[in-house]
Amino acid sequence: MAYPEMRMRRLRNNPVLRDMVRETKIGMDDLIYPMFVHYGENIKNEIASMPGQYQWSIDNLVPEVKRLSTLGVKAIILFGIPENKDEFGSDAYAEDGIVQKAIKAIKKSGSEMYVIGDVCLCEYTSHGHCGMLHGEKILNDATLPLLAKTAVAQAEAGVDMVAPSDMMDGRVEIIREALDHHGFDDVPIMSYAAKYASAYYGPFRQAADSAPAFGDRRSHQMDPANVEEALREVELDIDEGADIVMVKPAQAYMDVIWRVKDSYTMPVAAYAVSGEYSMIEAAAQNGWIDRDRVMYESLLGLKRAGADIILSYHTPMVAELISKGQWPPQ
Ligand code: PBG
Ligand code: ZN
Repeated sequence: MAYPEMRMRRLRNNPVLRDMVRETKIGMDDLIYPMFVHYGENIKNEIASMPGQYQWSIDNLVPEVKRLSTLGVKAIILFGIPENKDEFGSDAYAEDGIVQKAIKAIKKSGSEMYVIGDVCLCEYTSHGHCGMLHGEKILNDATLPLLAKTAVAQAEAGVDMVAPSDMMDGRVEIIREALDHHGFDDVPIMSYAAKYASAYYGPFRQAADSAPAFGDRRSHQMDPANVEEALREVELDIDEGADIVMVKPAQAYMDVIWRVKDSYTMPVAAYAVSGEYSMIEAAAQNGWIDRDRVMYESLLGLKRAGADIILSYHTPMVAELISKGQWPPQ
């Protein structure tokens, strides 16, 4: 059938019908909120490069998590800013490390929030690199046991899921083995499987105080030009035991999300990173775009591309709009 018998506009005239035929929906089940835990007390530092996002000390984090839960946020991923950094990133895997303490405090408060731990060393090392160093070389195999220790320390603190973001080869396997060995065979691994060496992480480095002291992350994170390599990364992580595979960043890598979803029968996560958030917020602050609608479209795009789960700094703003009955924004 073709025009004039067929008229595509028939399904677009009525808002009820538009809602009924909508193919993609974004709800709180899709979203994970990244949060930054800072040492000290009574801290709620707004992150200059990410307006509306904060570093929280544990005493402030716990009530904020409670507020978010009530608002409808179901899952968070934690990043730590420790008081002391050293060459070995010890705070990442210390029993009383900042993230471990935060997990325990949230769980002790009786919160139902699903808590994910980011597993990497760059927030905890004095040099800001994701692994152990020999001179200026980032060592792969020497880093693996520390990542495994970090995952186990988080599990012992009560984390619900771990998410290795380091991009060392073989880390999913060693983390899976270590978790199982310590009796945490029920703790899933969401691996940052295709993580690119991206300039979109700029604002995060200020948020997590994790900028490398020298050099960059190109020896372990992926070249933004590659997509077939992403499929190989994903395949390896699946073989090693990943339960969910992530693509990061999200918006500029929607083809990667799609190809991963299309190639494997796995839940796929997409991380809408700090730069993606800050660009939207900056343009909105200037009055150049309608923030809520651009936020909605950006999330929709990721889901259409094949993401089952989206990590987004906009999560609380979506929750607020949903709770006010203003979702999707008009
Ligand atoms: C640490 C890590 C980074 C992000 C998540 N985990 C930074 C990096 O790799 O430099 C970026 C998140 C964001 O930009 O929002 N390995
Ligand atoms: Zn790192």
